[in-house]
Order: sequence, then C-alpha cells, then structure tokens
Amino acid sequence: AIDPNFDQNREQAGEENGVAVWGPVEPPEKLGIHGTHVAVDYDICHADGACLENCPVDVFTWVDTPGHPVSETKVEPTNEDQCIDCMLCVDICPVDAIDVDAS
Ligand code: SF4
Ligand code: F3S
Repeated sequence: AIDPNFDQNREQAGEENGVAVWGPVEPPEKLGIHGTHVAVDYDICHADGACLENCPVDVFTWVDTPGHPVSETKVEPTNEDQCIDCMLCVDICPVDAIDVDAS
C-alpha cells in the first residue's frame, strides 16, 4: 500500500504536468508517488481504473508509462486541487495505491 507519510519519508524529485513527483524515480521501473493532496503510488497502481471512472469531480487522467513492470498506464491526479475529499478513490482502489490527505 502507499505510504501515507510519503511527504516526510521521500524527497520531491520534480513535477509532471503541474503534479509533484516524490522519488526515488528511476524510469521505467521506478516512477515514484505522483501528487500531494491526492497521491498515487505509480509503482503500486496496476491501472484498475475504478478511481478515474468513479471520482465525482474528475481528478484523474490516464498517462502512459511504457516499460513499467506493473502496468503501462497509470492515473495521474492532474486536477488534485478540485478534490472534495469524498475518499471514494482511496476505498475503491484494489491495491491501495492512493492516499488522500483530508485532514
Ligand atoms: Fe476524487 Fe473523491 Fe478521490 Fe478526491 S477523494 S480524488 S474527489 S474520488
Ligand atoms: Fe490505479 Fe487503483 Fe486507480 S490500481 S487506476 S489507483 S483504482
């Protein structure tokens, strides 16, 4: 499961599409955690899609991650600033790849 304390335990490695990336990042195998308020661990996400299909405010978009051993697409929390903290994505993800900091 994603580490809910990733922002303390990891260093920010950069940014993609305006979304923070928390390392370590060693593409294509290690892609880090993407997002801060809504965070997706790309190394756990297997592209189930339930988060993207069910988020009421369309926070997520698909991105291609060719060569990643778990899946070659991931969900980026592109519109994380629109999140309404409903926690649906956290509850629905079958591999616990998402953390939402609703505090
Ligand atoms: Fe969307 Fe709710 Fe997840 Fe926020 S907590 S990203 S609103 S499903
Ligand atoms: Fe990935 Fe979980 Fe969404 S596997 S696509 S974060 S439901």
